[in-house]
Amino acid sequence: MTEKPADYLAANGFESKTPFLIGVAGGTASGKSTVCQRIMEKLGQQHKEQTERRVVCISQDSFYRTLTPSERLRAERGQFNFDHPDAFDDKKLLAILKDILAGKKVEVPEYDYITNSISSHRSHTIYPADVVLIEGILVFYFPEVRDLFHMKLFVDTDSDTRLARRVPRDIMERGRDLEQVLNQYMNFVKPAFEEFCLPTKKFADVIIPRGADNFVAIDLIVQHISDYLRKSPVVDKLNPIGMSSSVPGS
Ligand code: CTP
Repeated sequence: MTEKPADYLAANGFESKTPFLIGVAGGTASGKSTVCQRIMEKLGQQHKEQTERRVVCISQDSFYRTLTPSERLRAERGQFNFDHPDAFDDKKLLAILKDILAGKKVEVPEYDYITNSISSHRSHTIYPADVVLIEGILVFYFPEVRDLFHMKLFVDTDSDTRLARRVPRDIMERGRDLEQVLNQYMNFVKPAFEEFCLPTKKFADVIIPRGADNFVAIDLIVQHISDYLRKSPVVDKLNPIGMSSSVPGS
């Protein structure tokens, strides 16, 4: 008799939940999004239509909560702490993840870093997939959210490297000036990383040193995911999954 996905999951220490939910945490500008992109690319998912993707990625930034008028003013001056757990709507994130685990189609809003708010007219439809990656600075902070992940990755990139990436990104892509970026980093980003994000590294199953440059770690993770996909019942219907040839054993 062939092994059922539930048997495979149990044998590998997973509960038989689908889809396979992967949390990707790490400090700001550690390369979380790039790690997720590389995983998707290696699984041949990057250029597929949204409706055909077996692996999808969601950012925790889509779950920043709506600010009060006074918080909005502080945010515009770079004086709001976007790195504190209170800045997120963790209940909404939890509800969406539960819907995803139940195999439902969900709408995930797009976040606008220029207006510091959820875009009212842009959202992404996340169709049921086999693997869902959730990346963000505090995805392992909230216990109920953390407990939903089947696999937890922590992208561990040197803090000087992260700051050197964050400064030009915030100036060029997020409409900030140098003084504001450095003030926000020293007053909020760095202390909150040490207090809230770094302690969640202990929950990770895999720590990825040097982030997205660590091709060996990414290949090992991809191998693990592809083993799961091969055992998943959907694989037989959609075979082949189109993995790139650089993946070991593919
Ligand atoms: N942030 C901000 N202004 C907002 C909302 C968030 O400056 N209105 C900042 C927070 O300070 C937080 C960061 O955005 O530190 C979270 O995004 P980050 O993890 O840096 O972005 P990703 O692209 O997901 O990270 P990576 O580079 O690791 O892929």
